[in-house]
Amino acid sequence: MRIDKTFSWIPKKLANLGDLNITVVGGTGGLGRAISRSFADAGANVTVVGQTFRDEKQKNIKFVRADLSSINESRKVARELDVSSTHILVFTTGIFAASKRQETSEGLERDMAVSFLNRMVMVPELVPRMHSKENFYGFIPRVFIMAYPGSNQLGNIDDLNSEKSYGSMKTHMNTVAGNEALVYDSVSKYKNVHFYGLNPGLVKTNIRNNLFGEGSWTSKIMEGLIGWFTHTPEQYASGISPLLIAKELEGLNGGIFNKNGESLYPSKGFTPEYASKYIKASEDLLISKNLF
Ligand SMILES: NC(=O)c1ccc[n+]([C@@H]2O[C@H](COP(=O)([O-])OP(=O)(O)OC[C@H]3O[C@@H](n4cnc5c(N)ncnc54)[C@H](OP(=O)(O)O)[C@@H]3O)[C@@H](O)[C@H]2O)c1
Repeated sequence: MRIDKTFSWIPKKLANLGDLNITVVGGTGGLGRAISRSFADAGANVTVVGQTFRDEKQKNIKFVRADLSSINESRKVARELDVSSTHILVFTTGIFAASKRQETSEGLERDMAVSFLNRMVMVPELVPRMHSKENFYGFIPRVFIMAYPGSNQLGNIDDLNSEKSYGSMKTHMNTVAGNEALVYDSVSKYKNVHFYGLNPGLVKTNIRNNLFGEGSWTSKIMEGLIGWFTHTPEQYASGISPLLIAKELEGLNGGIFNKNGESLYPSKGFTPEYASKYIKASEDLLISKNLF
């Protein structure tokens, strides 16, 4: 990953955010939850979308239940979400591809459905309904897409449903490339909102449960090692949440950021043309399953 040293920003402490509205799709667990809580603690009005609500005690977090492995349900939930006064929309929902290929009831490889394709169908439902005026914090609405951008993964555009060949890492990289594509392609499609990518690096969360098995020895050893060397979700959130409201981002529509909030160069080969080709191929996959 190459850092663009020409970009800099000054982190401001999150405080007195009573007028700020943030929606985190995937805000019920892991990194999305840590980000949601950091904003809620600073007074913001937070909406989280996920399967299991874990923050009932926090009054300013609203929960919307959804199974986002279903494309039809993701689209329906997006249609029903009120984002007319949302300032920041974040996508963090995800899993890791299992050791054997899994398929959803809609015929999609499960990791692609949960970690990428649901976002791809939610963006066109949500973004046109977001207002486009600059807010009192000095920015127009923003969408953050969390995955692994800038890591030079181009995915296998000819086998997005992993039907020809399967490997958990190879398939997961299809979701990584899809999410990077979604940032650049959305910049070219929507002018009322800015788009950014977030790459958190390795953090100890539940993301690898689908690969290692929840509570298994492999999971305990791997996550123990990751936890030993890396940030906790809360540490990641305390560093990255101020970036989400930084005014400096206004001049960097389409920017992608590492765990320290440093600006990264796009993955090698990830031209706007490739991004739009990747999104088109992903839409074709949904069309082939009668989901688009
Ligand atoms: N942690 C890392 O090391 C790492 C590294 C690189 C990139 N990332 C990226 O960071 C993002 C967040 O990952 P994380 O580490 O925070 O993972 P996580 O702890 O497993 O959290 C994932 C979130 O996705 C939600 N989710 C999963 N399946 C769902 C479904 N079927 N329907 C609705 N919601 C569902 C979970 O909600 P429920 O708990 O309510 O089901 C949870 O809120 C992902 O895009 C991931 O690819 C993470």
